[in-house]
Amino acid sequence: MGAMSQTINLPKVALSDTATLKYALENRQSTREYDTAKKLNRQEIANILWAGWGYNRKDKRTAPSAIDRQEITLYICTQEGVFMYDAENNRLDIISNKDIMKKCGEQPFVDKAAANIIYVCDRDQSVNAEMSAVCCGAISQNIALYCASQNIGNVVRASFDGDFLRQQLKLTGNNIVMLTQSIGYPAK
Ligand SMILES: Cc1cc2nc3c(=O)[nH]c(=O)nc-3n(C[C@H](O)[C@H](O)[C@H](O)COP(=O)(O)O)c2cc1C
Repeated sequence: MGAMSQTINLPKVALSDTATLKYALENRQSTREYDTAKKLNRQEIANILWAGWGYNRKDKRTAPSAIDRQEITLYICTQEGVFMYDAENNRLDIISNKDIMKKCGEQPFVDKAAANIIYVCDRDQSVNAEMSAVCCGAISQNIALYCASQNIGNVVRASFDGDFLRQQLKLTGNNIVMLTQSIGYPAK
């Protein structure tokens, strides 16, 4: 995703209007084999993160949250480092320039994907753990459907080392890792 700096301003979200919801629903599936040669560009990253958890109205998101608590924050790991998605400013804030792709999960394909999204819940903002899990489900399905619409692969994953990720994301307080999702072009 380019040279390292404290923040990466993402390109303005520009969704392709050629794919239909029907196409996305028919193509939604979990992908565990990725094309390591084909990375996602910044436009694709911007679109995917916005589809998942961007703002589509003033102060409101593309996915629902119980009592509009908006307690989830998305992080994204690539070979270039670990970033926090700042949806309000459509940018990525750098957390570290370490490549932790291999340890984003416990399955061998995780570092073959172009990126891994990590779902963090601020439990102090959350109604309860169940409601936050529902919110993660809604966000991850938004991403899955957008990816399917673009022939990009994804798989949501509960297999990860939460303590390791918590450390790498420099999480403090009641912020916990809820879910992960690999994204990238499928192997041919
Ligand atoms: C909450 C949740 C956790 C999951 N965790 C994993 C996982 O750790 N690893 C994995 O490969 N797939 C994981 N999956 C994907 C499921 O295995 C997959 O959705 C299921 O096999 C059906 O296949 P499909 O998504 O292609 O329809 C998870 C799915 C959900 C909803």
